[in-house]
Amino acid sequence: MRTLLVAGNWKMNKTFQEAEVLTEQITEAVEKLHLDSVEVVLCPPAPYLEMVLDLTDETHVAVGAQNISDHDFGAYTGEISAPMLRSMEVEYCIIGHSERRKYFHESNELLAQKVNSALKFGIAPIFCCGEVLSEREGGNHLDVVKSQLEESLFHLEEKDFRNVVIAYEPVWAIGTGKTATPEQAQEMHAYLRQLILSKYGERVAEDAIILYGGSCTAGNAFNLFSQPDVDGGLIGGASLKGEEFVEIVRIAIDCT
Ligand code: 13P
Repeated sequence: MRTLLVAGNWKMNKTFQEAEVLTEQITEAVEKLHLDSVEVVLCPPAPYLEMVLDLTDETHVAVGAQNISDHDFGAYTGEISAPMLRSMEVEYCIIGHSERRKYFHESNELLAQKVNSALKFGIAPIFCCGEVLSEREGGNHLDVVKSQLEESLFHLEEKDFRNVVIAYEPVWAIGTGKTATPEQAQEMHAYLRQLILSKYGERVAEDAIILYGGSCTAGNAFNLFSQPDVDGGLIGGASLKGEEFVEIVRIAIDCT
């Protein structure tokens, strides 16, 4: 049985004070739950990482960054690197979110470098893949995610790949209120697991954690998370509301 994971991607939202309140609210509620087979990760904006790390210290809530440099150190003004995050004890990092692919022109090749840097310093990538609407309508969605995995992840050795969490985020479902149906999500997740099986074999494929992201809410999480190949969610908008995010965590527990 795989662990389920529920991660909140706060994107570029909340003031410092609001983020403090949200972190406390989520952490207090999550500590009262039985999280044996569910992992919870908060991914705040970078300036808030230290505060969120402090407030979640010695709790069951882990912390992730939203982006990482492809370089380890050096003259890259404004960038944040894997060794920096590691030295703060950040455990996860979202890599390849569609917003970074779109607005910051991040290519599969660049994302492979980011993945390498994260893994080199012991940070687990939450690697996002997913197709845009025209690709789905054109029937190319499977090929698109296949290339994303092949070009950014499949150069990894098995021991490193095992530390990667994959998030399938259909771009047309992000922030739109339009969710993939449980059947669409299951089809893609099963396909992703099949790709992993072909590359790394059955045991790695069985253990791989594949999250769904894209307008996932407390209202649809149960139907999504109860699909056999959906191992939790990467939650955007709904992770900004403490009660709803905790409810999604509760739903994940019910699905285990
Ligand atoms: P929404 O849940 O707001 O659609 O965002 C999903 C997402 O992009 C998570 O990374």
